[in-house]
Amino acid sequence: MAQSNLYSRVIGTGSYLPADRVTNQDLADRLAKQGVETSDEWIVARTGIHARHFAAPNETTSDLALHASRNAIEAAGIDPDSIDLIIVATSTPDFVFPSTACLLQNKLGIKNGGAAFDIQAVCSGFAYAVATADSFIRGGMNRTALVVGAETFSRILDFNDRTTCVLFGDGAGAVILQASDEPGVLSSALHADGSHSSILCTPGNVNKGVIEGSAFLHMDGQAVFKLAVKVLEKVAVEALEKARLTPGDIDWLIPHQANIRIMESTAKKLHVPLERMVVTVGEHGNTSAASIPLALDVAVRDGRIKRGQHVLIEGVGGGFTWGASVIRY
Ligand code: ACO
Repeated sequence: MAQSNLYSRVIGTGSYLPADRVTNQDLADRLAKQGVETSDEWIVARTGIHARHFAAPNETTSDLALHASRNAIEAAGIDPDSIDLIIVATSTPDFVFPSTACLLQNKLGIKNGGAAFDIQAVCSGFAYAVATADSFIRGGMNRTALVVGAETFSRILDFNDRTTCVLFGDGAGAVILQASDEPGVLSSALHADGSHSSILCTPGNVNKGVIEGSAFLHMDGQAVFKLAVKVLEKVAVEALEKARLTPGDIDWLIPHQANIRIMESTAKKLHVPLERMVVTVGEHGNTSAASIPLALDVAVRDGRIKRGQHVLIEGVGGGFTWGASVIRY
Protein backbone atom coordinates (compact mmCIF):
# COMPACT_ATOMS: atom_id res chain seq x y z
CA MET A 1 0.00 0.00 0.00
CA ALA A 2 1.23 3.53 -0.85
CA GLN A 3 2.82 5.43 2.02
CA SER A 4 1.99 9.13 2.05
CA ASN A 5 5.59 10.13 2.88
CA LEU A 6 7.15 8.00 0.15
CA TYR A 7 8.34 9.83 -2.96
CA SER A 8 10.55 9.19 -5.94
CA ARG A 9 13.50 11.55 -6.43
CA VAL A 10 15.84 12.12 -9.35
CA ILE A 11 19.28 11.08 -8.12
CA GLY A 12 21.12 11.12 -11.44
CA THR A 13 20.72 12.07 -15.09
CA GLY A 14 22.54 11.11 -18.28
CA SER A 15 22.28 11.48 -22.02
CA TYR A 16 23.89 10.48 -25.27
CA LEU A 17 23.92 11.79 -28.83
CA PRO A 18 25.32 9.75 -31.73
CA ALA A 19 28.55 11.07 -33.24
CA ASP A 20 27.16 12.04 -36.65
CA ARG A 21 26.07 15.70 -36.26
CA VAL A 22 24.18 16.80 -39.34
CA THR A 23 23.64 20.53 -39.83
CA ASN A 24 20.73 21.88 -41.86
CA GLN A 25 23.17 22.66 -44.66
CA ASP A 26 24.59 19.10 -44.57
CA LEU A 27 21.05 17.75 -44.77
CA ALA A 28 20.05 20.17 -47.54
CA ASP A 29 23.12 19.08 -49.53
CA ARG A 30 22.31 15.38 -49.01
CA LEU A 31 18.65 15.88 -50.00
CA ALA A 32 19.55 18.00 -53.06
CA LYS A 33 21.38 14.95 -54.50
CA GLN A 34 18.04 13.12 -54.62
CA GLY A 35 16.10 16.12 -55.93
CA VAL A 36 14.54 17.20 -52.62
CA GLU A 37 14.82 20.94 -51.99
CA THR A 38 15.16 22.52 -48.57
CA SER A 39 17.30 25.18 -46.91
CA ASP A 40 18.85 26.13 -43.60
CA GLU A 41 16.79 29.33 -43.70
CA TRP A 42 13.44 27.50 -44.04
CA ILE A 43 14.24 24.96 -41.32
CA VAL A 44 15.47 27.55 -38.81
CA ALA A 45 12.57 29.94 -39.44
CA ARG A 46 9.86 27.26 -39.16
CA THR A 47 11.34 25.09 -36.39
CA GLY A 48 14.38 26.64 -34.65
CA ILE A 49 16.40 23.54 -35.59
CA HIS A 50 20.02 24.09 -36.69
CA ALA A 51 21.37 20.52 -36.44
CA ARG A 52 20.48 16.99 -35.39
CA HIS A 53 22.43 13.77 -34.75
CA PHE A 54 21.89 10.54 -36.67
CA ALA A 55 22.79 7.10 -35.36
CA ALA A 56 25.42 5.10 -37.24
CA PRO A 57 24.05 2.25 -39.39
CA ASN A 58 25.00 -0.35 -36.76
CA GLU A 59 23.83 1.72 -33.77
CA THR A 60 20.45 0.76 -32.30
CA THR A 61 18.09 2.44 -29.86
CA SER A 62 19.28 0.16 -27.04
CA ASP A 63 22.89 1.21 -27.79
CA LEU A 64 21.98 4.89 -27.39
CA ALA A 65 20.00 4.02 -24.25
CA LEU A 66 23.01 2.15 -22.86
CA HIS A 67 25.32 5.19 -23.11
CA ALA A 68 22.73 7.52 -21.54
CA SER A 69 21.98 4.99 -18.78
CA ARG A 70 25.66 4.52 -17.90
CA ASN A 71 25.99 8.31 -17.56
CA ALA A 72 22.93 8.49 -15.31
CA ILE A 73 24.10 5.53 -13.17
CA GLU A 74 27.51 7.16 -12.77
CA ALA A 75 25.94 10.51 -11.83
CA ALA A 76 23.71 8.78 -9.28
CA GLY A 77 26.66 6.83 -7.87
CA ILE A 78 24.68 3.61 -7.58
CA ASP A 79 25.40 -0.03 -8.21
CA PRO A 80 23.52 -1.00 -11.42
CA ASP A 81 22.28 -4.11 -9.60
CA SER A 82 20.23 -1.90 -7.27
CA ILE A 83 18.03 -0.95 -10.27
CA ASP A 84 14.86 -3.01 -9.86
CA LEU A 85 12.81 -1.29 -12.59
CA ILE A 86 13.79 -0.27 -16.14
CA ILE A 87 11.35 1.63 -18.33
CA VAL A 88 12.37 2.66 -21.83
CA ALA A 89 10.12 5.11 -23.66
CA THR A 90 10.61 4.58 -27.38
CA SER A 91 8.72 4.38 -30.66
CA THR A 92 11.76 3.07 -32.48
CA PRO A 93 12.59 -0.13 -30.56
CA ASP A 94 15.36 -2.44 -31.74
CA PHE A 95 12.79 -5.19 -32.39
CA VAL A 96 9.04 -5.82 -32.27
CA PHE A 97 10.05 -7.83 -29.22
CA PRO A 98 11.84 -8.36 -26.86
CA SER A 99 11.46 -4.89 -25.44
CA THR A 100 14.32 -2.39 -25.63
CA ALA A 101 14.22 -2.28 -21.82
CA CYS A 102 15.05 -6.00 -21.62
CA LEU A 103 17.89 -5.56 -24.13
CA LEU A 104 19.16 -2.62 -22.08
CA GLN A 105 19.01 -4.59 -18.83
CA ASN A 106 21.19 -7.27 -20.43
CA LYS A 107 23.65 -4.74 -21.93
CA LEU A 108 24.01 -3.14 -18.48
CA GLY A 109 24.80 -6.58 -17.05
CA ILE A 110 21.96 -6.39 -14.54
CA LYS A 111 21.01 -9.88 -13.40
CA ASN A 112 18.74 -9.14 -10.44
CA GLY A 113 15.51 -10.12 -12.19
CA GLY A 114 13.98 -6.65 -11.82
CA ALA A 115 11.10 -5.56 -14.05
CA ALA A 116 11.83 -4.11 -17.50
CA PHE A 117 9.40 -2.91 -20.15
CA ASP A 118 8.90 -0.31 -22.87
CA ILE A 119 6.37 2.49 -23.02
CA GLN A 120 5.06 3.60 -26.38
CA ALA A 121 3.55 7.06 -26.22
CA VAL A 122 5.72 8.63 -28.95
CA CYS A 123 6.92 12.12 -27.98
CA SER A 124 5.05 11.93 -24.64
CA GLY A 125 6.79 8.67 -23.83
CA PHE A 126 9.20 10.06 -21.26
CA ALA A 127 6.41 11.90 -19.41
CA TYR A 128 4.43 8.64 -19.36
CA ALA A 129 7.50 6.72 -18.16
CA VAL A 130 8.28 9.14 -15.32
CA ALA A 131 4.66 9.07 -14.12
CA THR A 132 4.66 5.25 -14.26
CA ALA A 133 7.97 4.81 -12.44
CA ASP A 134 6.93 7.36 -9.83
CA SER A 135 3.67 5.48 -9.19
CA PHE A 136 5.51 2.15 -8.91
CA ILE A 137 7.98 3.63 -6.42
CA ARG A 138 5.40 5.50 -4.34
CA GLY A 139 3.27 2.37 -4.30
CA GLY A 140 6.16 0.44 -2.77
CA MET A 141 6.56 -1.91 -5.72
CA ASN A 142 10.07 -0.76 -6.67
CA ARG A 143 12.89 1.24 -5.09
CA THR A 144 15.24 2.32 -7.84
CA ALA A 145 14.12 2.95 -11.41
CA LEU A 146 16.10 3.64 -14.56
CA VAL A 147 13.81 5.70 -16.78
CA VAL A 148 15.01 6.22 -20.34
CA GLY A 149 13.81 7.98 -23.47
CA ALA A 150 15.69 6.68 -26.52
CA GLU A 151 15.02 6.98 -30.23
CA THR A 152 16.44 6.32 -33.66
CA PHE A 153 13.82 8.27 -35.61
CA SER A 154 16.20 8.55 -38.57
CA ARG A 155 15.21 4.92 -39.32
CA ILE A 156 11.54 5.80 -39.90
CA LEU A 157 12.03 9.06 -41.81
CA ASP A 158 11.17 9.28 -45.48
CA PHE A 159 14.06 11.34 -46.85
CA ASN A 160 11.94 12.15 -49.90
CA ASP A 161 9.42 13.96 -47.66
CA ARG A 162 10.91 17.35 -46.81
CA THR A 163 7.97 18.23 -44.56
CA THR A 164 9.07 15.62 -41.99
CA CYS A 165 12.67 14.50 -42.58
CA VAL A 166 14.19 17.83 -41.54
CA LEU A 167 12.51 17.79 -38.12
CA PHE A 168 13.81 14.73 -36.29
CA GLY A 169 17.04 13.42 -34.79
CA ASP A 170 18.36 10.48 -32.76
CA GLY A 171 19.48 10.38 -29.13
CA ALA A 172 18.80 9.14 -25.62
CA GLY A 173 18.36 10.55 -22.13
CA ALA A 174 18.01 8.78 -18.80
CA VAL A 175 17.21 9.46 -15.16
CA ILE A 176 17.52 7.37 -12.03
CA LEU A 177 14.48 7.73 -9.77
CA GLN A 178 14.88 6.43 -6.24
CA ALA A 179 12.50 6.03 -3.29
CA SER A 180 12.93 8.81 -0.75
CA ASP A 181 11.10 10.41 2.15
CA GLU A 182 11.95 13.79 0.62
CA PRO A 183 9.67 15.10 -2.14
CA GLY A 184 10.87 14.59 -5.73
CA VAL A 185 8.18 14.01 -8.34
CA LEU A 186 5.35 16.14 -6.92
CA SER A 187 2.60 15.43 -9.43
CA SER A 188 1.87 13.99 -12.85
CA ALA A 189 -0.95 14.17 -15.37
CA LEU A 190 -1.33 11.94 -18.43
CA HIS A 191 -3.86 12.02 -21.25
CA ALA A 192 -4.63 10.56 -24.66
CA ASP A 193 -7.17 11.00 -27.42
CA GLY A 194 -6.99 8.21 -29.96
CA SER A 195 -9.38 9.98 -32.32
CA HIS A 196 -6.38 12.03 -33.54
CA SER A 197 -4.25 8.96 -34.30
CA SER A 198 -3.99 9.69 -38.03
CA ILE A 199 -2.36 13.16 -37.79
CA LEU A 200 0.97 11.70 -36.65
CA CYS A 201 1.62 8.04 -37.31
CA THR A 202 3.81 5.34 -38.81
CA PRO A 203 0.99 3.27 -40.27
CA GLY A 204 2.82 0.07 -41.17
CA ASN A 205 3.02 -3.37 -39.60
CA VAL A 206 4.77 -6.65 -40.16
CA ASN A 207 2.45 -9.23 -41.65
CA LYS A 208 3.68 -12.65 -42.73
CA GLY A 209 7.23 -11.37 -42.98
CA VAL A 210 6.55 -8.25 -45.04
CA ILE A 211 5.71 -4.68 -44.13
CA GLU A 212 2.11 -3.80 -44.84
CA GLY A 213 1.26 -0.11 -45.12
CA SER A 214 3.97 2.52 -44.70
CA ALA A 215 6.96 2.10 -42.42
CA PHE A 216 7.65 5.86 -42.61
CA LEU A 217 6.48 8.63 -40.30
CA HIS A 218 3.52 10.63 -41.62
CA MET A 219 2.41 13.94 -40.16
CA ASP A 220 -0.16 16.64 -40.70
CA GLY A 221 2.12 19.40 -39.39
CA GLN A 222 -0.45 22.12 -38.96
CA ALA A 223 -2.97 19.87 -37.17
CA VAL A 224 -0.20 18.67 -34.84
CA PHE A 225 0.88 22.24 -34.19
CA LYS A 226 -2.61 23.42 -33.17
CA LEU A 227 -3.32 20.44 -30.93
CA ALA A 228 0.13 20.52 -29.31
CA VAL A 229 -0.13 24.17 -28.27
CA LYS A 230 -3.60 23.61 -26.78
CA VAL A 231 -2.88 20.49 -24.73
CA LEU A 232 0.58 21.56 -23.52
CA GLU A 233 -0.87 24.57 -21.74
CA LYS A 234 -3.76 22.57 -20.24
CA VAL A 235 -1.68 19.69 -18.94
CA ALA A 236 0.93 22.02 -17.43
CA VAL A 237 -1.76 23.86 -15.48
CA GLU A 238 -3.26 20.54 -14.37
CA ALA A 239 0.06 19.17 -13.10
CA LEU A 240 0.84 22.45 -11.32
CA GLU A 241 -2.56 22.51 -9.62
CA LYS A 242 -2.06 18.92 -8.44
CA ALA A 243 1.28 20.00 -6.94
CA ARG A 244 -0.39 23.10 -5.44
CA LEU A 245 1.99 25.35 -7.37
CA THR A 246 1.57 28.13 -9.91
CA PRO A 247 3.60 28.84 -13.07
CA GLY A 248 5.47 31.48 -11.02
CA ASP A 249 6.89 28.66 -8.84
CA ILE A 250 8.49 26.95 -11.84
CA ASP A 251 12.25 27.44 -12.04
CA TRP A 252 12.65 25.49 -15.27
CA LEU A 253 10.20 24.54 -17.98
CA ILE A 254 11.30 21.56 -20.08
CA PRO A 255 8.76 20.98 -22.84
CA HIS A 256 9.14 18.30 -25.48
CA GLN A 257 11.63 19.75 -27.96
CA ALA A 258 9.63 19.54 -31.20
CA ASN A 259 9.62 23.03 -32.53
CA ILE A 260 10.69 26.35 -31.00
CA ARG A 261 7.44 28.00 -32.06
CA ILE A 262 5.32 25.45 -30.14
CA MET A 263 7.65 25.75 -27.13
CA GLU A 264 7.65 29.56 -27.03
CA SER A 265 3.91 29.70 -27.46
CA THR A 266 3.48 27.30 -24.50
CA ALA A 267 5.84 29.32 -22.30
CA LYS A 268 4.00 32.55 -23.15
CA LYS A 269 0.59 31.04 -22.39
CA LEU A 270 1.91 29.86 -19.02
CA HIS A 271 3.60 33.25 -18.39
CA VAL A 272 6.92 31.48 -17.87
CA PRO A 273 9.77 33.79 -19.05
CA LEU A 274 11.61 32.34 -22.05
CA GLU A 275 14.91 32.41 -20.14
CA ARG A 276 13.43 29.82 -17.73
CA MET A 277 12.76 27.36 -20.55
CA VAL A 278 15.45 24.81 -21.43
CA VAL A 279 15.90 24.75 -25.21
CA THR A 280 17.90 22.05 -26.97
CA VAL A 281 15.80 21.64 -30.12
CA GLY A 282 18.26 23.84 -32.04
CA GLU A 283 21.10 21.34 -31.59
CA HIS A 284 19.17 18.06 -31.20
CA GLY A 285 16.14 18.42 -33.49
CA ASN A 286 13.05 16.55 -32.36
CA THR A 287 14.27 13.35 -30.68
CA SER A 288 10.74 12.30 -29.64
CA ALA A 289 10.76 10.44 -26.30
CA ALA A 290 14.44 11.30 -25.79
CA SER A 291 14.00 15.06 -26.05
CA ILE A 292 12.95 15.83 -22.46
CA PRO A 293 15.59 13.72 -20.65
CA LEU A 294 18.25 15.01 -23.06
CA ALA A 295 17.31 18.61 -22.25
CA LEU A 296 17.09 17.82 -18.53
CA ASP A 297 20.57 16.32 -18.51
CA VAL A 298 22.04 19.26 -20.44
CA ALA A 299 20.61 21.76 -17.93
CA VAL A 300 21.63 19.67 -14.89
CA ARG A 301 25.20 19.25 -16.16
CA ASP A 302 25.66 22.91 -17.13
CA GLY A 303 24.54 23.91 -13.62
CA ARG A 304 21.28 25.66 -14.50
CA ILE A 305 19.07 23.17 -12.63
CA LYS A 306 19.94 23.09 -8.94
CA ARG A 307 18.78 20.92 -6.04
CA GLY A 308 15.47 22.07 -4.58
CA GLN A 309 14.32 23.83 -7.77
CA HIS A 310 11.00 23.06 -9.44
CA VAL A 311 11.14 21.61 -12.93
CA LEU A 312 8.05 21.15 -15.09
CA ILE A 313 8.46 18.55 -17.83
CA GLU A 314 5.77 18.11 -20.45
CA GLY A 315 5.37 16.13 -23.61
CA VAL A 316 2.96 15.78 -26.50
CA GLY A 317 3.01 13.33 -29.35
CA GLY A 318 1.43 10.75 -31.57
CA GLY A 319 -1.56 8.83 -30.35
CA PHE A 320 -2.45 11.62 -29.61
CA THR A 321 -0.86 11.60 -26.14
CA TRP A 322 0.24 14.28 -23.73
CA GLY A 323 1.47 14.47 -20.16
CA ALA A 324 3.40 16.48 -17.58
CA SER A 325 5.18 16.10 -14.25
CA VAL A 326 6.27 18.64 -11.69
CA ILE A 327 9.58 17.60 -10.15
CA ARG A 328 11.40 19.08 -7.17
CA TYR A 329 14.94 18.41 -8.30
N1 ACO B 1 11.98 23.00 -46.84
C1 ACO B 1 11.48 23.95 -47.64
N2 ACO B 1 10.17 24.10 -47.84
C2 ACO B 1 9.34 23.28 -47.18
C3 ACO B 1 9.80 22.28 -46.33
C4 ACO B 1 11.18 22.14 -46.17
N3 ACO B 1 11.74 21.22 -45.36
N4 ACO B 1 8.74 21.62 -45.82
C5 ACO B 1 7.64 22.21 -46.34
N5 ACO B 1 8.00 23.21 -47.15
C6 ACO B 1 7.13 24.10 -47.92
C7 ACO B 1 5.80 23.48 -48.22
O1 ACO B 1 5.86 22.66 -49.37
C8 ACO B 1 4.94 24.70 -48.44
O2 ACO B 1 5.17 25.19 -49.73
P1 ACO B 1 3.95 25.75 -50.61
O3 ACO B 1 3.41 26.92 -49.81
O4 ACO B 1 4.62 26.13 -51.87
O5 ACO B 1 2.98 24.63 -50.69
C9 ACO B 1 5.52 25.71 -47.45
O6 ACO B 1 6.83 25.22 -47.12
C10 ACO B 1 4.71 25.83 -46.18
O7 ACO B 1 4.41 24.53 -45.70
P2 ACO B 1 3.57 24.31 -44.40
O8 ACO B 1 3.43 22.85 -44.14
O9 ACO B 1 2.34 25.15 -44.48
O10 ACO B 1 4.55 24.96 -43.34
P3 ACO B 1 4.28 25.31 -41.86
O11 ACO B 1 4.51 26.73 -41.65
O12 ACO B 1 3.01 24.70 -41.35
O13 ACO B 1 5.49 24.55 -41.16
C11 ACO B 1 5.90 22.60 -39.85
C12 ACO B 1 5.59 23.14 -41.23
C13 ACO B 1 7.26 23.12 -39.41
C14 ACO B 1 5.94 21.09 -39.91
C15 ACO B 1 4.80 23.10 -38.90
O14 ACO B 1 3.52 22.76 -39.36
C16 ACO B 1 4.97 22.58 -37.53
O15 ACO B 1 5.85 23.00 -36.83
N6 ACO B 1 4.11 21.65 -37.11
C17 ACO B 1 4.24 21.04 -35.84
C18 ACO B 1 4.68 19.70 -36.11
C19 ACO B 1 5.83 19.26 -35.28
O16 ACO B 1 6.55 19.99 -34.65
N7 ACO B 1 5.95 17.98 -35.33
C20 ACO B 1 6.94 17.33 -34.61
C21 ACO B 1 6.46 15.99 -34.33
S1 ACO B 1 5.06 16.03 -33.36
C22 ACO B 1 5.54 16.22 -31.91
O17 ACO B 1 6.67 16.07 -31.60
C23 ACO B 1 4.51 16.61 -31.01
